[in-house]
Amino acid sequence: MIRFFWNFIWISIALTFLNSCSNPQGESKSRSIIETRVDSVLSLMTLEEKVGQLNQYSLGSEFTGPGNKKGQDSIRYQQLISGQVGSVLNLLGTANTRKMQELVVKNSRLGIPLLFAYDVIHGYKTMFPIPLAESSSWNLELMQKTAQAAGAEAAASGLHWTFAPMIDVTVDARWGRVMEGAGEDPYLQSEIAKARIRGFQGNDLSHNKTIAATAKHFAGYGFAESGKDYNTVNINQYILHNHILPPFKAAVEANVASFMNAFNDINAVPATANKYLLQDILREEWGYDGVVVSDWNSIGELVNHRVSPDLRDAAKKAIIAGSEIDMEGNAYVQNLSDLVENGEIDEALINDAVRHVLRLKFELGLFEDPYKYSDEKREKEIVGNQQHHELSEQMAKESIVLLKNDRNILPLKNFKTIAVIGPLAKDKDTPLGNWRAQAVENSAVSLYEGLEKALPSDTKLNYAEGVKLSIGPNNFFQEQVINEEDRSGFQEAKLLAQNSDLVIMALGETAYMSGEGRSRANIGLPGLQKELLKEIEAINPNIVLVLMNGRPLELTWENEHIPVILEAWHLGQRAGTAIAETLIGKNNPSGKLTMSFPRHVGQLPIYYNHKTTGRPSTAPGQVFYSHHTDVDNSPLYPFGYGLSYSEFEYSEVELSQKSMTEEDSITVSLSVTNISEIDGQEIVQLYIQDLVAEETPPVKSLKAFQKLKIKAGESVKINFTIQKDMLSYYKSNGEVALEKGKFKVYVGANSTVQNHKEFSLK
Ligand code: NOJ
Repeated sequence: MIRFFWNFIWISIALTFLNSCSNPQGESKSRSIIETRVDSVLSLMTLEEKVGQLNQYSLGSEFTGPGNKKGQDSIRYQQLISGQVGSVLNLLGTANTRKMQELVVKNSRLGIPLLFAYDVIHGYKTMFPIPLAESSSWNLELMQKTAQAAGAEAAASGLHWTFAPMIDVTVDARWGRVMEGAGEDPYLQSEIAKARIRGFQGNDLSHNKTIAATAKHFAGYGFAESGKDYNTVNINQYILHNHILPPFKAAVEANVASFMNAFNDINAVPATANKYLLQDILREEWGYDGVVVSDWNSIGELVNHRVSPDLRDAAKKAIIAGSEIDMEGNAYVQNLSDLVENGEIDEALINDAVRHVLRLKFELGLFEDPYKYSDEKREKEIVGNQQHHELSEQMAKESIVLLKNDRNILPLKNFKTIAVIGPLAKDKDTPLGNWRAQAVENSAVSLYEGLEKALPSDTKLNYAEGVKLSIGPNNFFQEQVINEEDRSGFQEAKLLAQNSDLVIMALGETAYMSGEGRSRANIGLPGLQKELLKEIEAINPNIVLVLMNGRPLELTWENEHIPVILEAWHLGQRAGTAIAETLIGKNNPSGKLTMSFPRHVGQLPIYYNHKTTGRPSTAPGQVFYSHHTDVDNSPLYPFGYGLSYSEFEYSEVELSQKSMTEEDSITVSLSVTNISEIDGQEIVQLYIQDLVAEETPPVKSLKAFQKLKIKAGESVKINFTIQKDMLSYYKSNGEVALEKGKFKVYVGANSTVQNHKEFSLK
């Protein structure tokens, strides 16, 4: 019986394939072949089988054999072998995926292969820096390479699909998931989104080293009220169109294979049931034809949002809105067929969704060979290989941001006795970060190990943990318990500091203090770390503070008292090597922040591209202007900021002409000189300010950047081209506005740049 249907499908597909060969050449030809094949498969499917393609479960390896399954497991097993599951998440490895694929292909009536999905966020087994860290490199090429390597490892391990990149613009460091994205700027986030999608997907999804990517979370998730994960989102249409949507539009342009819903409601409509987002914008305006997957039970959560009385209504609302695959919600598999049979929804809706799923399966080459990603030999060669570790080190070095370097203490020189203090100094786990997929626990190079290797042999390294940061469980599923009482290590650390020339303190957040469900109301150094830092500083102020964390921290006291601060995020596999080589000057730091660091948590949300307001004055002694009476308006470290061991001097900005038309462009030129004796890299940033617009414009917006290698003493001349796209914005109704008038172009080292020229659009 099964054989019969297999043959039937393939003969039918082969015939339609032959018929379609008279279609146009190249990409569109293969696209139309796929479309014909999709339709042939669809025409063979029962309603239940179609609904099955929209059902996704998280299944472990225990599902790969019949075994003794009870209750829900037995139901799921039956569904699996009868074609009522279309994709699976969290099942890993060539052996497991092959086994489960076989189970489905051989037992289900039509043998439609499964899709295997997983959160490959910053590496599969080899851990790269967390995405927020990588974004600080502003190195698109390198970010593409790390995504490519992560994708290759995942594909070699039987996977087809990653739920990455997360491209939620975010302006609130309390939100734990800032570690997964690329910060606060929509333009930079868009460029990085494209690079990562290119990295995961390559040019050909059916290649066995590429996987399908996901643009998530659509939309607004990064604007959770008070930075509290999953919270409601209240934003105006201007913010939606100008800050939140651009990276998603860029993802469509980069042919991202899938979109994922967000958990939040946005202006009173849950994103998962949001027709405006999923239909009007995604499908109609942007013409997207990939698949949309829900977030974990986000269809079921429509009941919690209280827009649906029960799961059946939730399923109906979600499918009508355009959510196509139900991740772990049981909403579709239990209700869609019935909803169609009762005439409450049109089967055409289901057909469209199934078409998207089948097309992805065809594009991945799964109909030709359902096991093409399950090759044990390739798995052994690719997963966690040496080149990927080297790439991770390179990326880590570019991701480090030097925040402060008084008296040029760095790079380290002539220190004979160094005390290395802090709970993260010997920590081999924290640098792996959250969302670490298959990273091996405790497998990162620790800072201490890195220093031991990098420092000259006559430097004496002394170590003390000083204080424990977290106590109790350290994993994805449980809350971290922070040590607030145990100071028993203080004394030893203080003694060590007293007897050393220099103190390197490694403080910050453990891997699981940022990420999903890890919002914090206080974003200073957690626990007793700051207290220890203060006591050490009183004894030996010669401190290099190395920070490992997954979000911007509040560092006002540290900035006032500690001479050197190095932001080292969670840098992945070779974190310790990258940090140590930066401290000794073998690597010259070149990263720049992609999120503003506030002076105080009360300033949040804080972002450089905010509105001017009607009361922008900062003149001394004023009261009635937009400010807090107790904290300066500026961030502590602004967007785009980061120091280097080199020193760069910018010439004045020059324009090729003082005005342009829509058809025209202006060349902006300037030179950047490395006036130091150290070769370095500089991220030159171009911002535009619209002086007067119909809708209140931001103070300035990043529109272009270049990362340049500049040798000691060298002067580099650079050009940027201003085109009309850089002068337009989205009005609150979503229309693009390009308004004539005056603009300023700023070029410099960070978002506070003053170096500018004025021009006009005629
Ligand atoms: C929930 C998260 O919000 C989402 O980003 C992730 O992809 C899914 N869980 C699957 O793990």
